[in-house]
Amino acid sequence: MTSLFDPIRVGALDLSSRIFMAPMTRSRADADGVPLDMVAEYYAQRASAGLILSEAIFVSPMAKGYVRTPGLATDAQAAGWRRVVEAVHAAGGRIFAQLYHTGRVALPEFLPGGALPVAPSAIAIKGQNKTDSGPKDFVVPRALETDEIGGVAGEFASAALRAREAGFDGVEIHAASGYLIHQFLDASINQRTDIYGGSVENRARFLLLVADRVAEAVGRDRVGVKLSPRIKFNDVEDPDAEALYPYVARELSGRGLAYLHGAKQGGYEVHQELRPLYKGVYAAGAGFTGETGQALLESGGADVIVYGKPFIANPDLPARLRRKAELAQPDFATVYGGGAKGYVDYPAA
Ligand SMILES: Cc1cc2nc3c(=O)[nH]c(=O)nc-3n(C[C@H](O)[C@H](O)[C@H](O)COP(=O)(O)O)c2cc1C
Repeated sequence: MTSLFDPIRVGALDLSSRIFMAPMTRSRADADGVPLDMVAEYYAQRASAGLILSEAIFVSPMAKGYVRTPGLATDAQAAGWRRVVEAVHAAGGRIFAQLYHTGRVALPEFLPGGALPVAPSAIAIKGQNKTDSGPKDFVVPRALETDEIGGVAGEFASAALRAREAGFDGVEIHAASGYLIHQFLDASINQRTDIYGGSVENRARFLLLVADRVAEAVGRDRVGVKLSPRIKFNDVEDPDAEALYPYVARELSGRGLAYLHGAKQGGYEVHQELRPLYKGVYAAGAGFTGETGQALLESGGADVIVYGKPFIANPDLPARLRRKAELAQPDFATVYGGGAKGYVDYPAA
């Protein structure tokens, strides 16, 4: 019977357990997108995860979508991440960099020269993003020209190379949460009439191009992909999730990547739908406890369980799950930004 604590081969890596730490933005980078020193301590404290997935990291200056978030677009940012990766490895852990482009989530003030953010189509998100001078409305983005799209995929590949040079064990492509790749997937956001819009095949084309470029750059056995169909975030609707995501899972399956990571969101039964279609390692995330994660592994519904919020206040989560210990609860006021409080001061049990 498979247990959370069984080792597993994931792509090029032999991992000590089937417990992954979910990617979580914690907004502790400087104004240049370099992770602060305490970021190394934070991830090293969580090195007992079978694999850490880093917070989302922007792949290029046009990809930054939030204040105090880190990048992998410059040498200084890569040097900051090298310190983080070295601390995780010294503590016996493994870590992938989660790579993203925020697309229409960005505000001009985060972008070079105050540029308009880019997206599949010129449709704004309803609502506001946070800035240091208060909340500001999302803007109508500029629709990418067809001949620009290959270049954006290339930015993912360049950032993936930089991640490997910094020592990351691999990368996760963030195709979830309503960021640029998800904006292409979602028929309610992508209104294009070229080969990147319209049919399921066309809307999946950008993700598959990114996956191919990144796999060419760093090897397919060091690349994972995260999907979150119908997540209630960034105006995602995914009106045809039942047609789109099985196609995406089959296409990714044929590419022999390290894993597929599904986060169950918005009432779409992502694990049940995708797991049988995906031939490689399937990592299931969102809302799991020790018991429900163990039960899904035992039923064969996933190979790996991904834990997010439980890792915030329980740096030694695997040991606590093993003992079935009570879990500490995070203070949500200190989740994003700020300093060491609520970040590196949660003790191991
Ligand atoms: C504070 C916070 C930040 C997050 N940031 C990211 C992120 O950067 N990338 C990502 O793919 N998901 C992000 N997520 C979603 C988590 O990866 C995960 O899918 C979600 O929290 C559900 O899992 P959980 O119930 O175990 O927390 C974030 C979640 C939280 C709570």
